[in-house]
Amino acid sequence: MTIQENCPAAATNGERATLNYQGKPTDFPLRHGSIGPSVMDIGKLYKDTGCFSYDPGFTSTANCASKITFIDGDKGELLYRGYPIEQIAEYSNFLATCFLLLNGELPTNEQFRDFRRTISMHTMVHEQMTRFFTGFRRDAHPMAVMVGVVGALSAFYHDSTDISNPEHRRIATNRMIAKMPTIAAMAYKYSIGHPFIYPRNDLDYTSNFLQMCFAVPCEPYIVNPVVARALDRIFILHADHEQNASTSTVRLAGSSGANPFACIASGIACLWGPAHGGANEAALTMLQEIGTVERIPEFIAKAKDKSSGFRLMGFGHRVYKNYDPRAKVMQKTCHEVLDALDKRDDPLLKVAMELEKIALQDDYFVSKKLYPNIDFYSGITLRAIGFPVEMFTVLFAVARTVGWIAQWREMIEDPEQRIGRPRQLYVGPSRREFPL
Ligand code: CMC
Repeated sequence: MTIQENCPAAATNGERATLNYQGKPTDFPLRHGSIGPSVMDIGKLYKDTGCFSYDPGFTSTANCASKITFIDGDKGELLYRGYPIEQIAEYSNFLATCFLLLNGELPTNEQFRDFRRTISMHTMVHEQMTRFFTGFRRDAHPMAVMVGVVGALSAFYHDSTDISNPEHRRIATNRMIAKMPTIAAMAYKYSIGHPFIYPRNDLDYTSNFLQMCFAVPCEPYIVNPVVARALDRIFILHADHEQNASTSTVRLAGSSGANPFACIASGIACLWGPAHGGANEAALTMLQEIGTVERIPEFIAKAKDKSSGFRLMGFGHRVYKNYDPRAKVMQKTCHEVLDALDKRDDPLLKVAMELEKIALQDDYFVSKKLYPNIDFYSGITLRAIGFPVEMFTVLFAVARTVGWIAQWREMIEDPEQRIGRPRQLYVGPSRREFPL
């Protein structure tokens, strides 16, 4: 089989790639994005050739056309609606980023005020949901609680589950962005036996989340502005990341017409895995296990030994083959938080910085283009703020909710989208008779 590509560098629409299979040429249209690689539209591959494409892990497969987020993995660039992540993290805030991801443009001052007011009107959860929490064991992982409670939102808010109704989609969007911090904080409070703290709508989105997590009814809680700004930035960095595993899960779940709350619950379940959102927890656990700078060579050697099954958590990325741009912002934020909280002598920071230095000079990591990813420094930062490791992925879920919803809405509104139904290369037994 050969592929003759008729696509010059600056190709225009109407061009085609020709695939020769068993002596018969078949043409496939080429489609070009605004930036990034073009795609061959192989939707008719099976009809025209009788073959499926085979691409486990979707390493060469685009599942949709999207206008939301762009990553150039070789350059180490991440854009939300065209804006570089570093600039958004520096000049914007999480709620404005939500508006941008959902609507395509940054909000005007008036739009921001309206959006903020709307979100704050939805921050409480149905009072009956508090009883839902008590059904869980207190030592349950908060991500397990999140999957259950977010999935249950459709039982409490079924008046916004008609996906064909744009107004329902809008209300479900606002509800999820507003309620996710409340649910996450409740999961945390439940795990430590504290009473739930109600949202405070006079606070900004992230400060309110901090007070729901760390305030207690018996004394006033004052939000540390450096911590609030750092967490807000962490939320911005995690808000969307194009067609990653959890977002693809949300899209796939949504492609069947499932309601948005159920779709987001499926995204949370996928995010929990250690190769995805669970990596921040795994990275911190690994740094704790390493413990001292002297033990780093032992762990580097283990990571290079395939038979050990050990990987350097917080290193490597499917798309970034350069420094993850989010990791750079995260590293700076980490230093800011440790300085503000007078924890700059945190031994884990020393281990992390030394580990990064050694790995970036090591031939194994250099040749495989394995760089620190966002999770490498986020764990140290979140721990310094006061979150236990089990909450790390929950915070990721709070931030990623807007990305999941923006992508879900884009899918619902895309006339080209159909139910997601991959095919397979069957390698099991062929037909045989049942033994009598
Ligand atoms: N430590 C040691 N070796 C590694 C690592 C690592 N962290 N990551 C990849 N490799 C090696 C891997 O063994 C393979 O070697 P070879 O080519 O000799 O077989 C090569 O690098 C390519 O790895 P891969 O598993 O084929 O790459 P992938 O694109 O399928 O996996 C990844 C990407 C993120 C799952 C992987 O790098 C990894 O497991 N990293 C650790 C977990 C982690 O930090 N995940 C967070 C990702 S960022 C947050 C997010 O977006 O969710």
